[in-house]
Amino acid sequence: MKVLVTGGAGYIGSHTCVELLNKGMDVVVVDNLVNSSKKSLDRVEQITGKKVTFYENDVRDRDALNRIFDAHPDINCAIHFAGLKAVGESVRMPLEYYDNNLFSTVVLCETMRDHGVKNIVFSSSATVYTGGNEMPLRESSTTGMCTNPYGWTKYMSEQIMRDTAYSDKDWSIVLLRYFNPIGAHPSGLIGEDPRGIPNNLMPYISQVAVGRLDHLNVFGDDYDTHDGTGVRDYIHVVDLAKGHVAAIEYMQEHKGEHVFNLGTGNGYSVLDMVKAFQRVTGINIPYEIAPRRPGDLATVYASPDKSAEELHWRAQYNLDDMCRDTWNWQSKNPMGYAEN
Ligand code: NAD
Ligand code: UFG
Repeated sequence: MKVLVTGGAGYIGSHTCVELLNKGMDVVVVDNLVNSSKKSLDRVEQITGKKVTFYENDVRDRDALNRIFDAHPDINCAIHFAGLKAVGESVRMPLEYYDNNLFSTVVLCETMRDHGVKNIVFSSSATVYTGGNEMPLRESSTTGMCTNPYGWTKYMSEQIMRDTAYSDKDWSIVLLRYFNPIGAHPSGLIGEDPRGIPNNLMPYISQVAVGRLDHLNVFGDDYDTHDGTGVRDYIHVVDLAKGHVAAIEYMQEHKGEHVFNLGTGNGYSVLDMVKAFQRVTGINIPYEIAPRRPGDLATVYASPDKSAEELHWRAQYNLDDMCRDTWNWQSKNPMGYAEN
């Protein structure tokens, strides 16, 4: 089986390449490196001892995609990770987000159709669920009313793919709604390497731990949660990556459009995460309580039941594993993939 992985040099893509290669699948990556480094793929090869075919191209570049499919007529399916993902940036630059995230989806699906490849797994997000849903979030929970352009691009991409599957019954489309991926491959060779000051909690904590940042700002301590800070469903990125292997296996037997949550079903608060990180690493994380971040919800966590029953996938790593592997990557690569 040969899999086209768009955005495969990124955080989740690189971890998924490892799991695909470990399963004996061949991997062709297309990534324009707008938010990643080619080094991640060198490390994927180091971990697996296998070769990754890499094309430095934009997924919106139709001619380049056509050339890639022509060169690999045995591509059986695609996993579409490529996209911009910073919520705050999407509010400032909505057109860039709609252009990148929607056109990449359309051009990829059209090119796949033209080459008779009709199996795709898409990186969606818990952000497509409407605020105000009861917890845990199930795949049948209400979606829409997104609070930022990034969320709308995921919602709209899901709809584009749903309509595509409806129009042609040969398509098999799996929409994976990720909750909060953290951690890194246990080797410490690949991990999350955000550009600039991290937006997300775990990279921020680990950059405080390594001394790149001074202290953590905790965005709000007056939510209706057990300690007043926001609760999320953190999932180890290796578990998330394995969810994609399960999705590819599922697609071989199931046509049509299918939606699955990839989360653990557990909710941890910001302060739970700080304490767990401190306990596992022995490093103190200074923090200050700051105002709430606009658009944040108090509590978000998944029901993982449908994924367990139908995909036969369930997260295996616990919170301590997530903290240990986050720190293993950050301490071995204090500047990420840049020269240390
Ligand atoms: P990432 O930025 O590390 O990876 C995305 C990759 O896509 C990068 O390597 C980037 O260079 C590439 N890319 C972006 N636009 C491209 C284009 N037009 N053509 C080619 N390559 C392009 O992000 P990630 O955390 O690995 O996320 C992967 C996917 O999962 C994204 O679609 C993201 O929206 C989605 N997602 C991520 C999270 C999260 O918390 N990390 C949560 C939910 C969903
Ligand atoms: N937080 C802080 N300080 C920080 C960063 C975050 O207190 O410096 C808090 C947030 O307020 C929130 C929690 O930590 O309560 C988690 O925040 P993240 O930014 O790590 O994650 P979010 O749940 O806000 O969003 C993430 C991705 C989105 C994706 C969503 C899906 O960034 O792209 O998960 O659930 F859509």
